[in-house]
Amino acid sequence: MARANGKIILLGEHAVVYGVSAIAAGIEQGANARAHSASEARIRIGEREARAGDGSELGHALIALLEALEAGPHEIAIELELPAGAGLGASAAIGLAAARAVLEARGAAADDARALSAAGAWERVFHGNPSGIDTAAAAHAGCLLFSRKDGASELPVGRDLELAVALAGPPASTRLMVEGVARLRERRAEVVDKAVEGIATLVAQAKACIETGDHAGLGRLMDLNQMILSGLFVSTEAIERACGVARDAGALGAKLTGAGGGGAVIALCSGSAEPVLAALAAAGFQGFAARVRANRRLP
Ligand code: MEV
Repeated sequence: MARANGKIILLGEHAVVYGVSAIAAGIEQGANARAHSASEARIRIGEREARAGDGSELGHALIALLEALEAGPHEIAIELELPAGAGLGASAAIGLAAARAVLEARGAAADDARALSAAGAWERVFHGNPSGIDTAAAAHAGCLLFSRKDGASELPVGRDLELAVALAGPPASTRLMVEGVARLRERRAEVVDKAVEGIATLVAQAKACIETGDHAGLGRLMDLNQMILSGLFVSTEAIERACGVARDAGALGAKLTGAGGGGAVIALCSGSAEPVLAALAAAGFQGFAARVRANRRLP
């Protein structure tokens, strides 16, 4: 069996599509995959099933994945621990776990560069113009800095980050949300370019806060990032409400994570995430705790 994890984006979604850096972290919840060679290529994700050549998006993604791996037909079964379409990287986790499982089934030596590039081909079928941050984070347990130009690099974390993750809306399509920002840029380039520039500054400051364990500062930067994302029209009433509930319950900062338009919000907590999760649940937002572990000794 092969595995890959889901992700949260701490800061920088959407701007990362336009070349600036973003900060993401892998989370424990992810996807498990089993694969074996078969006469016909098929994939099963819970109750959903697709075949190569059935004309579905999932079927096309399966073909792209197997072609990138130069593999013949395989049957792949996925067990998903994340809600799909919530901005938590479910599709990248599925693509990477599936690619790893196919390589494993073929007895190929573990080759994560190859699995990552196949997961990238899978993602392009769903997302059109993905930056690659979701697949990079699916392969990564800690915090990472990612840009299109430089790829992923490990980001030192000075103090454990305790996060509440809550679902603030129905699933949304990353492709549609990214296309929405691109359309806004065609009409109002100066608005989107200013937003991207602003987010780049927040990301640079957030990197320092994560390294030094300044969580109060990081929370404020997350709130500012959320304001800019609202200005790009990727937030929703439910996302704003969930962020407000989390802040009122003591969170240091809160924002949407991923593409927005629904899906998940993350709230940075000053201690355990439980009180914030309880307040969110009381307001009708189900969620779970996620921790990004410190890996740097503070002076
Ligand atoms: C989606 O998790 C993150 C976006 O920035 C899209 C991308 O980077 O591919 C919205």
